[in-house]
Amino acid sequence: MKLNEHIFLIGFMGCGKSTNARYLSKMTGAVQMEMDQKIVEKQGMAISDIFEKYGEVYFRDLETDLIRSMKEKEPMVVSCGGGAVLREENVALMKECGKIVLLTASPEAIYDRVKHSTDRPLLNGNMNVEYISELMEKRKPKYEAAADIVISTEMKNVREICEEILEEMERLRTRAERQAR
Ligand code: S3P
Repeated sequence: MKLNEHIFLIGFMGCGKSTNARYLSKMTGAVQMEMDQKIVEKQGMAISDIFEKYGEVYFRDLETDLIRSMKEKEPMVVSCGGGAVLREENVALMKECGKIVLLTASPEAIYDRVKHSTDRPLLNGNMNVEYISELMEKRKPKYEAAADIVISTEMKNVREICEEILEEMERLRTRAERQAR
């Protein structure tokens, strides 16, 4: 399936955004973009160093700048940083040029995937299921409000998840076309 707009994969750290973005990129032929990686390349610094040196607000501004630049780009599969949709402005910018897909997983599954990570400043010193669960609950309303599509990643492999995403994208596209007639 060829994309006619971006897919923004959102969700908590470790929910599988990068892995699924890679697979979706293969399935659609669209370029994969890792927001975090783009920011690291542009700044020439690791995420944790940006947080430490300039603070979280500065990092969030970099995210907004990057999302704003997406409007001029060919359809891509974008793996967003876990906090990218916490700003309403970012959500509005994403909706102007793509669909937002929320990937969900349990706090236990998330912990299992991120427990060895050292470049997630928000979890440094808080690497436990309780903290992940609390932060996830706090963010849940924003994630859900932003999402055009919600996909649970539990008990599914990457192919199943990505096929589900593309089916839902197709459903949204058909519905929009029908409404436009
Ligand atoms: C963050 C998630 C990280 C990264 C930064 C902040 C967040 O990205 O952008 O550490 O606020 O959830 P991943 O979701 O790719 O780990």
